Amino acid sequence: MKQESKPVHGMWASRWVFILAATGSAVGLGNIWRFPYITGENGGGAFVLLYLLCIAVVGVPIMAAEVMLGRKGGMSPINTMRKLAAESKVTQRWSWIGYMGVLSAFLILSFYSVVASWALYYTWEAVQGAFQGITAAQSGARFDDMLASPWLMMGYHTLFMLLTMVVVGRGVKGGLEKAVQILMPLLFVLLLVLVGYAATTPGFMQGIEFLFAFDFSKLNGQAVITAVGQAFFTLSLGMGAIMAYGAYMPRQVPGKAGKKKPVSIMSTVIIIALLDTLVALGSGVAMFPLLFSGGLEAGQGPGMMFVTLPLAFGQMPGGLLFGSLFFVLVVCAAWSSSISLAEPVVAWLVEKGVNRAMSSVIVGLGAWVLGLGSVLSFNIWKDKTFLVGTFFDNMEFLSTTIMLPLGGLLIAVFAGWVMKETHARKELAMKSFPLYLVWRALVRIFSPVAVIVLVVYSVWSTFA
Ligand code: PFF
Ligand code: NA
Repeated sequence: MKQESKPVHGMWASRWVFILAATGSAVGLGNIWRFPYITGENGGGAFVLLYLLCIAVVGVPIMAAEVMLGRKGGMSPINTMRKLAAESKVTQRWSWIGYMGVLSAFLILSFYSVVASWALYYTWEAVQGAFQGITAAQSGARFDDMLASPWLMMGYHTLFMLLTMVVVGRGVKGGLEKAVQILMPLLFVLLLVLVGYAATTPGFMQGIEFLFAFDFSKLNGQAVITAVGQAFFTLSLGMGAIMAYGAYMPRQVPGKAGKKKPVSIMSTVIIIALLDTLVALGSGVAMFPLLFSGGLEAGQGPGMMFVTLPLAFGQMPGGLLFGSLFFVLVVCAAWSSSISLAEPVVAWLVEKGVNRAMSSVIVGLGAWVLGLGSVLSFNIWKDKTFLVGTFFDNMEFLSTTIMLPLGGLLIAVFAGWVMKETHARKELAMKSFPLYLVWRALVRIFSPVAVIVLVVYSVWSTFA
């Protein structure tokens, strides 16, 4: 076999480290904050089913494509796409996938840090017992007070951005790999504890029913858009994070009797998608019973995690401990995701010759400044709305609903139509040929068509 050059940024120590890192990227606010509240808003069970379908038929195939492109290119998404475009003898315009990804990452990182920083603040509040015995009105007022204080929010936004950049600045081996090896096991233990706790509350069965009982009358076009957007967001697809991580994925690992064993992309991706789904469902199972036990409602919107949940924790035996653990869980999850948002950009700057520490400072500072727009969206700029809402709303809409699906579409088209089939097939190295054909059909036809229809529909329904 031709000796491939080693990626300049380093390599994950094993397949499992890649799985931890990619799961770290995938599992985040999308699972714990966004999934439960959009499920609540869209009526529960039927939406969950729709979401699972999107993960399976759009998410997994595109994730496999993204990892495949990344591993083949071995560099930051921009240079990976340059390299693959050259290899495929097509125009360098395909490297725009990389540039667009970097841009989406920047946008997402900027507001992601803001929401994550609320969780950071709430951890601090929970530990101090601030939620003990509060009323619904008080809980709402606490959240509103936080949102009304630009300085407070800016402080926590700064802190969270620093946490992110400290890890990214240390590189793949010394930073990312170490962080995910601590954060991910911790996250799963915490989630398990919280699910166990939810099971002891009186609203447990009601919560389970809400999540898993199907009422299809509640579904509409908007729910479908939300589900597809969520599938991209939750799996970190369409912007190069998974491509960048894929670039550090080994092709072979030592197997039995000193023989090398190939690392299969498809089975790895399926594990990551399953873990991500498990955490999303687990978060629902941990949260809804608490709400119902407290006699609260499910369709609370984005404030659910920060208003309703503290209220539930505040009323419960053990709420101080479990409430604190919950927000620690959220911070861990968000942290391991935000580093993957920064990595593609930082890796690109490193390839341009800037050193890693400096690159992290530049990226962190840039995203921090942009994030101030989101901070202000909740107070000083609250009434300055355009297009879909505040600055924050626009950031979220543009990146999650438009840019990620479009990025995913281009990735699918490149992997399915542009790249030489022999290359794609060799890099994927799937054992089962029929399954390979299924992947190819999904990536060539199904995903692109689905994404085009949805993006057009969502732009049209938002602005028409
Ligand atoms: N997947 C993350 C979540 O569910 O919270 C969010 C995310 C991370 C999106 C990284 C995109 C990305 F590149
Ligand atoms: Na996720």
